[in-house]
Amino acid sequence: MARKPMMAGNWKMNNAIGEAVVLTQEISNNWRKDWEDKVDVVICPPFVDLKPVKTVLEFDKTKIFVGAQNVYWEEAGAFTGEVSVPMIRECGCDYCIVGHSERRGLFGETNEDVNKKVRALLGGRLAPIVCVGESLAVRDEGTTNEYVCAQVKAAFAGVDADDAAKCVVAYEPVWAIGTGRTATPEQAEEVCAAIRAQLAVLFGEETAQAMRILYGGSMNPGNVDVLVAEPDIDGGLIGGASLKRDSFIQLVKAVMQ
Ligand code: 13P
Repeated sequence: MARKPMMAGNWKMNNAIGEAVVLTQEISNNWRKDWEDKVDVVICPPFVDLKPVKTVLEFDKTKIFVGAQNVYWEEAGAFTGEVSVPMIRECGCDYCIVGHSERRGLFGETNEDVNKKVRALLGGRLAPIVCVGESLAVRDEGTTNEYVCAQVKAAFAGVDADDAAKCVVAYEPVWAIGTGRTATPEQAEEVCAAIRAQLAVLFGEETAQAMRILYGGSMNPGNVDVLVAEPDIDGGLIGGASLKRDSFIQLVKAVMQ
């Protein structure tokens, strides 16, 4: 089955409003109408940039999607510092990253939290980009596939096949994030294929074949081609290389080919 590729930029905690607007405008200026059918481009800025970024894209009528980097599962209430699904939807989000390894590692997010966020997003008609990935210690133990598949299973607990089909999975080996050390295409493909097999067990072969699986971890214009040439890698979730117009545009063009 032909899956539409996705190129998503995770800006992390970079770009205050002024910089965010400038970078979005630059990306928008490079966007071409014929990209629409060939790739889904997603920009995931910090919360405070969501509305300004969306405003630029709406003004330009460029079909680039906006995603948040995190969300809380309750709709409203006494949850100081948190932001809900309705709030990010009102900012114009179609997607939201969930379970990024920085949230798991630095902020103590558990598989159970990830699952609550996934279900809250689906309930609010937003598409989760569910991040999974192993540490170097897990890789060295030789249990990567089991570890990552357990993360997938936990993230999608209680989700049905119709909803799962709207979700994106991002395989991001922790040891490759921000390190300049990319997984080899063979390493990345092996895990992405294992993720798809796990999705097939959960949701059936047809749904698993329809779902997009991205690779993330030091992906850049120099290594994107060999990674997305792999059959189970449908695009990228990009950190550092999404912060510069030229590299992000090159990455988008690479997945379209
Ligand atoms: P880098 O591309 O900077 O390695 O970051 C990857 C990532 O964590 C995207 O979510």
